[in-house]
Amino acid sequence: MLTVLKSLETLWLWREQHEGKDIGFVPTMGALHAGHLSLIEKAKSENDIVIVSIFVNPIQFAPNEDYDSYPRPLTKDREKLDNVGVNALWAPNALEMYPEGFETAISVGGITKLLEGSYRPHHFDGVTTVVNKLFNQIRPTRAYFGEKDYQQLQVISKMVKDMDINTKVIGCPIHRDKSGLALSSRNAYLSRDQLDIARRLNSVLKSAPDWMRTMEIAEVEKKLEDILVQADFDKIDYVVIRNAETLKPVKNKHEEKMRVLAAVWLGKTRLIDNMGI
Ligand code: PAF
Repeated sequence: MLTVLKSLETLWLWREQHEGKDIGFVPTMGALHAGHLSLIEKAKSENDIVIVSIFVNPIQFAPNEDYDSYPRPLTKDREKLDNVGVNALWAPNALEMYPEGFETAISVGGITKLLEGSYRPHHFDGVTTVVNKLFNQIRPTRAYFGEKDYQQLQVISKMVKDMDINTKVIGCPIHRDKSGLALSSRNAYLSRDQLDIARRLNSVLKSAPDWMRTMEIAEVEKKLEDILVQADFDKIDYVVIRNAETLKPVKNKHEEKMRVLAAVWLGKTRLIDNMGI
């Protein structure tokens, strides 16, 4: 049976009752899809109990972003969590998370200024602040994050290392549909025509490893961008090849682990994807 926790008091009581157990934690903003469920399955296989949080975190959205329209199908989400045997759902409201007078922020330097950080300047501070709070509230043994938000995964891993947080951060492979489209709660915003275009994103990125064998990085990036424009994406924020850990530009493609990362627009919807090279 799923225990639904809505106040810090009940969460802490629940946490006390499970002292000494391995606790797997899957933080989410809800609108759960198969990608989330695969994180939950992994958490279940590696821990004694699993807790999922659903909290649409206002401070990681800029005023012009989709905080108000972000899908919130809480009843359906609860059913899904119950069906897959999650032990507890932590679902605080905004006031429980950020009470009157809240004024602390957790800010990771360096990596947060790159890529997503340059298009969404306050986004990662919002993410690290809420994930830090969630980790303090739950004290999980392991926490599971999808590689779709690859930069987020690197930023959170850095925060955990820098702040000596005793939780193991586990990155999990991107869950894709048959066409290769990375599952995302925001895919729900896409029309049928836009979905057809969105499905081309991953097949374009998949060319990068082959091209990297014979071409310079800048040439590969240019070719990827040209093809995405031809594939009818409305705007390309970036499509780049970076060091897989630091996300800085690659100095030596023969020595560094690399990743291709992209952020593109279809109408008002921004999509991200990435893969290892
Ligand atoms: O990836 C997400 O859904 C969110 O950024 C997270 C990690 C739950 C923090 O709000």
